[in-house]
Amino acid sequence: MKLAIIGTGYVGLVTGTCFADCGNDVVCIDKDAAKIDGLKHGKIPIYEPGLEELVVRNFADGRLTFTTDLKAGVAQAEIVFIAVGTPQSQDGSADLSTVWAVTDALAEAINGPKIVVTKSTVPVGTNRGVLTRLRAKCKHPVEVASNPEFLKEGAAIDDCTKPDRVVVGVENAATAEKLRELYAPFLRTDKPFVVMSLESAEMTKYVANAMLATKISFINEMANLCERMGADVNDVRKGIGHDQRIGFQFLHPGAGYGGSCFPKDVRAIISMGSNHGTPLTLMESVDVVNEAQKTVLIKKVRAHYGDRLAGRTLAVWGLAFKPKTDDIREAPALVLIDALLAAGAKVRVHDPEAMPNVRASYGDKLVYCDKPYGAIEGADGLVIVTEWTAFRTPDFEVMKRLLAEKVVFDGRNIYEPKIMAQHGFTYYSIGRRDVVAPPEPRP
Ligand SMILES: NC(=O)c1ccc[n+]([C@@H]2O[C@H](COP(=O)([O-])OP(=O)(O)OC[C@H]3O[C@@H](n4cnc5c(N)ncnc54)[C@H](O)[C@@H]3O)[C@@H](O)[C@H]2O)c1
Repeated sequence: MKLAIIGTGYVGLVTGTCFADCGNDVVCIDKDAAKIDGLKHGKIPIYEPGLEELVVRNFADGRLTFTTDLKAGVAQAEIVFIAVGTPQSQDGSADLSTVWAVTDALAEAINGPKIVVTKSTVPVGTNRGVLTRLRAKCKHPVEVASNPEFLKEGAAIDDCTKPDRVVVGVENAATAEKLRELYAPFLRTDKPFVVMSLESAEMTKYVANAMLATKISFINEMANLCERMGADVNDVRKGIGHDQRIGFQFLHPGAGYGGSCFPKDVRAIISMGSNHGTPLTLMESVDVVNEAQKTVLIKKVRAHYGDRLAGRTLAVWGLAFKPKTDDIREAPALVLIDALLAAGAKVRVHDPEAMPNVRASYGDKLVYCDKPYGAIEGADGLVIVTEWTAFRTPDFEVMKRLLAEKVVFDGRNIYEPKIMAQHGFTYYSIGRRDVVAPPEPRP
C-alpha cells in the first residue's frame, strides 16, 4: 500500500518504518527540516533499539522516504496517518493545535480518495472533528479512522510488529477492512484486530494508560506504607502477584512514572471527566501520588545529609524516563536533579543514551560522564533513577573504592539490601528497610 505518515517522532518514525519493512511504500513527513535532512542521511533522531538498521535498509531499498512537503508527501498515499504530538495544555487537557493544523493542511492537500488515520492520542470527539473539517473543505471522498498506538519506547519495534492487539475506530466496514489488510502482517499470531466506533477507540487509549498509571501509583503508595511498617514491598509483590487476578506486571515500585504519555494522558482523561460532569477522583489521586513519588528520592537524600547537602557531589545513574530510550520528557531524574542543584549540590550524571538530551537543557550545570563508574568517582553518594541493565550487576568493590561516602539511593530496587549490607554500603531503596552501614573505623 502507499502510505503517508505526518509527524516523524517516536510513533511516526517507528510505525512508518515497520510498515515499510513489510513492503509498503511509506513517506514520512515532518515540519522539522533538520530531522528530515538527518534521516535522509541515515541519522536517526531518537534512540530506539533496532530502529536504525530498519530505517537505513528500507530507505536504501526505496520503500521509506522522508519529506517536509506535506502536499507532495500525501499525493500518492491511499492512507494518511496523523502521528503528531498532543502535549498537555495549560489546563491539563490535550493540546490539539497541531492535529488541527495538520487537518487543515491535509484538507488543502488531498487530491483523491483517502483514509485519514489518527494515531496521535486524542480526546473523544477529535476524530469526528477531523472528519467534519476534512469533508467541509475537501471535495474528494475522505474516511477517518482512529487507530490508537500502544507501543512502548524501548520496545517499540516489537510492539509495533507484534502488537497484543490492534484497535481501530471507524465509520464503516470498508475502512476497517482496508486497515485489517494493512495490519495483517503484524497479526499473524492471531492477535485480535478490534473494530469499534471512533469514540470507543479514542477512549480505549486513555483507559489503557489510566489503568497502567493507576497500577504504578498503587504499588508506589503501598511501597511507602511497607517502608513505614517494616515490611518489604518486594516480598509483598511476590505475595500478591501470584494471584492471577492481580499478576506482576506494572507493579514495580519506583520514583514515579514519567515520559511523554502517562502524565499527560492521565491529566487529559481527568480533564475530559470534569468537562463532562464526571469527576475522576481516582485518576486525580493517581496523578497526586505520582507527583509526590517523584520527590521520594530527594527526600531520602535530604534525610541522609541533613543540611550538609550544599557543596556535596551526588552521582545520578539513569536520566531517561525509563531504560532503552533517550526520552527525558517528564523524567523523574530531572525532578531530582533540579532539587539537588537548588540545594547547592554538584551533580555528576550518566545515562547510556539520554545524555545529549539532558545536556541540551542543562548545559554546564551538570558534569556528564561517559561511564557509570566515572560518575561516582569522588562522589558523596549515588542515586539510581532509571534501571538500565548496565547498572544491575556492578562491581561493588570498585564502587566502594570510587565513592567518597558509601551511600546508594536506589529508586528502582535493583540491588538486594542484604548484599549491600555485606559490602558495607548505606543503602536506601523504595518500600524496603534502609541499610545503615556501621561507622568506618578511624585509621
Ligand atoms: N511516544 C510514545 O511512546 C507514544 C506511544 C503511544 C502513543 N503516543 C502518542 O503519539 C503521538 C505522537 O507522540 P510522539 O512521542 O511520537 O511525539 P514526538 O514529539 O516524538 O513526534 C511528533 C512529531 O511531529 C512533528 N510535527 C509537529 N507538527 C507538525 C506538523 N505541523 N507537520 C508535520 N510534523 C509535525 C514534530 O516535529 C515531531 O517530529 C502523541 O499523541 C502521543 O501521545 C506516543
